[in-house]
Amino acid sequence: MKKYVFENIQVLAKESPALPGEGMFTEQTAKKVLRFHRSMPQYRETQLKFLSAAAEKYGVRAIYVKDESARFGLKAFKGLGGSYAVFRCLCERLGLDPDAASFSDLQTEELRARCAGIEFATATDGNHGKGVAWAARLFGCCAHVYMPKGSVEARRKAIEDAGAAEAVITDFNYDKTVAYASRLAEKNGWILVQDTAWEGYEDVPRWIIEGYLTLAAESCAQMDGMAPTHVFLQAGVGAMAGGVTGYLLDRFKDEPPLITTVEPTDVACVFLSAEAGDGKARSVEGDPETIMAGLNCGTPCCIIWPVLRDGASYYCACDDIITEEGMRAYANPLGGDPAVVSGESGAVTHGLLLRILKNEELRKLFKIDKDSVILLISTEGATDPEGYDRIVRG
Ligand SMILES: Cc1ncc(COP(=O)(O)O)c(C=O)c1O
Repeated sequence: MKKYVFENIQVLAKESPALPGEGMFTEQTAKKVLRFHRSMPQYRETQLKFLSAAAEKYGVRAIYVKDESARFGLKAFKGLGGSYAVFRCLCERLGLDPDAASFSDLQTEELRARCAGIEFATATDGNHGKGVAWAARLFGCCAHVYMPKGSVEARRKAIEDAGAAEAVITDFNYDKTVAYASRLAEKNGWILVQDTAWEGYEDVPRWIIEGYLTLAAESCAQMDGMAPTHVFLQAGVGAMAGGVTGYLLDRFKDEPPLITTVEPTDVACVFLSAEAGDGKARSVEGDPETIMAGLNCGTPCCIIWPVLRDGASYYCACDDIITEEGMRAYANPLGGDPAVVSGESGAVTHGLLLRILKNEELRKLFKIDKDSVILLISTEGATDPEGYDRIVRG
């Protein structure tokens, strides 16, 4: 692993090729998950936007952006994982076969009456909790949601509006809020739906990650037959990045894309873990601050870290200014390119890509040339509308 430091950006580049996935988050799994999501009346594919003017200007074959701002009306991709995990938990409780059951099977009067007594809990920096609260309500259950200190009130309120029984901002950082939610769930008999795993708590996070595969499968199906050569993925605990990586390495076995994880500089736990070089995950302690609230997580998810350790080719840590640049560029696209409304955690990969495309040394480091087909995921819209306006409209 070699480390490079650029203005506002640090890069770790693997010197040997990435390794294929362990067969956990495969195309086959994605098909099952997609079957469930398609059974939901609320399900619509999100758009894959093609930035052709940008691709032409920067001399690459294609730049695609999966725009998750419209997912389930929740402004972020996270509802995919929340809905699938809540569904799987309910199937387990109610004795249904998850590979055969559909959304409507759980909407009978008898099953809704049984669901009414089931309560969920989770910790979140915003989007995941909103997805869980929303999904719980769809099935007639309720959810208790806890947020780390410093969380924005608009995001808390959005969770309540999505259907949470309560959405509370705690005095703890993200990792401690997760532990707090877990203790409360145990004490009160609630089902914990947490988007990160630890020893002994692995099934639910795995279902959440599987839920994210829908966005990967949709993206590939929307790419006009092209295969991505470069994929940039935001990482908080790394669940989304790892799930998508597993899927892409399985689907494009013969010519796997180069995967890059992207995190905020002060809370880059995947980057730190990769840098340590002994294969073990590392945590960032303390109360790090970043405007990328969804990525402000101090510990990689233990079931996904090995996928990122083996499957990613680059690990990046970016200052907040990079996502601000990405948000503005998405909002003010080149030529006839479509605009993308992208929040603080959604746009950092775009800001990073633009810095790469404009710098010969970075282009070379990332092996980007005229044949590159680049895929970005704008994981959220304007989830903090005031913050969005301040950054994009100045
Ligand atoms: C908008 C957004 N993007 C990316 C992420 C990162 O996802 P993960 O924690 O699975 O790495 C999050 C997590 O909350 C998020 O809200």
